[in-house]
Amino acid sequence: MAKRKNTAYISGKDSKAISRMNRKITRKLEKERADANKDPKLYETTMKDPNNVVEFDNMCTYFFTDIGVVKAVDGISFNIPKCSTVGVVGESGCGKSVTSLSLMQLLQRPTGQVVGGEIRLNLDGAGKALNIVNTPTAKMQEIRGNRISMIFQEPMTSLNPVFRIGDQVDEVIKLHNPEMSDENVKTRTLEMLELVGIANKEGVYKMYPHELSGGMRQRVMIAIALACKPGLIIADEPTTALDVTIQAQILDLLRDLKDKINSSIMLITHDLGVVASMADYVVVMYAGRIVEKGTAQDIFHNPCHPYTIGLMKSKPVVGKKVEALYNIPGNVPNPVDMPDYCYFRDRCEMQCDRCKGDYPPEIKISDTHVVSCWRFHDEGEVLGFPKSKNVEELL
Ligand SMILES: Nc1ncnc2c1ncn2[C@@H]1O[C@H](COP(=O)(O)OP(=O)(O)O)[C@@H](O)[C@H]1O
Ligand code: SF4
Ligand SMILES: [Mg+2]
Repeated sequence: MAKRKNTAYISGKDSKAISRMNRKITRKLEKERADANKDPKLYETTMKDPNNVVEFDNMCTYFFTDIGVVKAVDGISFNIPKCSTVGVVGESGCGKSVTSLSLMQLLQRPTGQVVGGEIRLNLDGAGKALNIVNTPTAKMQEIRGNRISMIFQEPMTSLNPVFRIGDQVDEVIKLHNPEMSDENVKTRTLEMLELVGIANKEGVYKMYPHELSGGMRQRVMIAIALACKPGLIIADEPTTALDVTIQAQILDLLRDLKDKINSSIMLITHDLGVVASMADYVVVMYAGRIVEKGTAQDIFHNPCHPYTIGLMKSKPVVGKKVEALYNIPGNVPNPVDMPDYCYFRDRCEMQCDRCKGDYPPEIKISDTHVVSCWRFHDEGEVLGFPKSKNVEELL
């Protein structure tokens, strides 16, 4: 095992060296992105499977911070098939939001950068795709809200407090459909408000955000997300900021909409219960990597990774009496100095001799079920290791 250096203390000299390196790398990456504006070949690509809306392929998103490089997402690959719901679960800080922000190109640049891999977005249903990583900002503006839209965690901060609800929904529709008359835009807005279960749609159209409750505001956010019939809706912890009864109503609404609209949903949450009731596929993330992925059936009926098993055990079950709920011991490793072995090893109660070696590869244990854990090495097909980027390579 490699000797780990102590990263708790950074001298003035180290700090200067880190800043210098960060500047060099981020400038280079920004320049490459600017060059992509000139040549569509740099961002036009094809889907591996035209039945997917989005394919993440070994995507790495790093933050170049003053204390070093945070590998927030490090070599993740998963697909979002058409008309399906993919749940992304994992504890706070594991990289769920960074994954969705990378897909929307909303990372805080230049600190945050997608440094490797591809994010392919299906454009025509037949396989013609855009690689979001290199797509110029102007083109991204046509994609956001139109092909991919997002429902954020906190509806109050996502709505503009000084504009009426109607104007805010109208704006999105008008932006992406400039040929539509004002009357048609308003009709569509009212349709959307009705679709998300707002009974007094004419009244709400004229209201300001502060006049609505948290649940109503989140309904408006969902209406905005649906306004242009996007192929993919990202819901990042859509119910976390709401109280429990409203959470249930919003989840019912999303479940109901799922059958009415022909969009896929990427549902990001730390709550396994939410995923169990909605998702067709589940991706479990831990410390910036995917540790297990499969259909909801695979993950909930046959969880294989010790982390997934721990998450299941730590959920309360109605009717089951326990002294204390299980909690996974230990902490997530330091993000600026990840170990070279399994990231979960220091917390894992099932480790074996093999776990002393490298980070485990992705192992396919059924047609739909993939797990990154040495315990399954002899039971399935080894697909390969996640492709991390060496920071020196980026210089
Ligand atoms: N702007 C930023 N600057 C530095 N690090 C960041 C930034 N945003 C996110 N991170 C880091 O990325 C990791 C993943 O964050 P995030 O995706 O927001 O987690 P979550 O799974 O809770 O949504 C965290 O370790 C966090 O510290
Ligand atoms: S590879 Fe080993 S240490 Fe890592 S999760 Fe699997 S059993 Fe635990
Ligand atoms: Mg988050």
